Amino acid sequence: MDIEFVRSRFIKHFDGKTGNVYTSPGRINLIGEHTDYNGGFVFPGAVDKGIMAEMRANDTEDTVMAYAIDLKDRVDFKLSDPDGPRASWARYIYGIALEMKKLGVPVKGFNIAFAGDVPLGAGMSSSAAMESCFAFGLNDIFGDNKVSQWDMALAGQATEHNYCGVNCGIMDQFASVFGKAGCLMRLDCRSREFEYFPFKPDGYRLVLLDSVVKHQLAGSPYNDRRNSCENVVKHIQAKHPEGKYETLRDCTWEQLEEVKEEVGAEDYKRAKFVLGEKDRVLGVCDALNEGDYEKVGELMYKTHEGLSKDYEVSCEELDFLNDVAKENGVTGSRIMGGGFGGCTINLVRNDLYKQFVEDAKKKFNAKYGHEPKVYDVVISDGSRKLC
Ligand code: GLA
Repeated sequence: MDIEFVRSRFIKHFDGKTGNVYTSPGRINLIGEHTDYNGGFVFPGAVDKGIMAEMRANDTEDTVMAYAIDLKDRVDFKLSDPDGPRASWARYIYGIALEMKKLGVPVKGFNIAFAGDVPLGAGMSSSAAMESCFAFGLNDIFGDNKVSQWDMALAGQATEHNYCGVNCGIMDQFASVFGKAGCLMRLDCRSREFEYFPFKPDGYRLVLLDSVVKHQLAGSPYNDRRNSCENVVKHIQAKHPEGKYETLRDCTWEQLEEVKEEVGAEDYKRAKFVLGEKDRVLGVCDALNEGDYEKVGELMYKTHEGLSKDYEVSCEELDFLNDVAKENGVTGSRIMGGGFGGCTINLVRNDLYKQFVEDAKKKFNAKYGHEPKVYDVVISDGSRKLC
């Protein structure tokens, strides 16, 4: 994906004029899954794949002309239309524009053409990459760059909630906006404090294996998990009116046990995963500080097990890839992102890398009739203007 490619389409599909070009990345997450909306910790980093958009004010009051280059699909709509466009990709543009308006940016009509190389449905947050990219562009074109990075990330999250039906946490938009080359970021999703962690694991590398099974986050499965967590918190709060329990982050293992019977087996298991995951992220931070990558890997396998058995967001193909990683002596492996398909993230010793990737391709192909896609992780910068 390069600027000239996007620019040539922008010129061709609109009035021949050029605009500004912006880009925002997708993300990986080393550990800390489904913890963001529970006020816990996450450990993401931005990647070298993302969305690139050319944008320009078009001198209309509120007409947006949008072209999705990869889909060869053109949609025009008005920001004042209360329903907005139907096409799911165009809803991200409509949603973020309205959210930026809420933040005081006087968004007017604009033209936009965009393309991406972050794989869709792979759990690498192509949607957050779109939201952050469009937010960054609108902030630059109409808002004198007055909206803060945090507010842009929150506007992206609000877009998912209000226009796309996914009640997501803040990890993806945060990572896309704040990413920094060579660094993972440990974010405390309750206080929003974060720290950059240079990540150069000597002797190891990170590789993603994409099952190419598509997940569907919109609607029930993801939102159901979140509801379960909130239900457990409600029960704990009712038992402890003296305290303030907003998310599972505020709850202890003992308190979870107290409500075990009343919340039911499914919600209990889900909350159990979240409490364990909170501890695992902190364990990974300690292990990274000590350079103990074997420990990091051990915790990644534990996360996979929890996501598969307790949180139930895995699928046959992802469990299979996790097993192949174990068979190959890979240090750590787990589902990455929301789940229901997508990728595993693997921490693998350099000397095992080639054999592991080949074995995974061969075995996966024999069982499912196609190879997984392989992405080497390059940790990169967040949202920015290219020209
Ligand atoms: C999706 C959501 C995030 C986060 C992850 C799971 O990517 O968008 O907010 O909850 O799933 O960790």
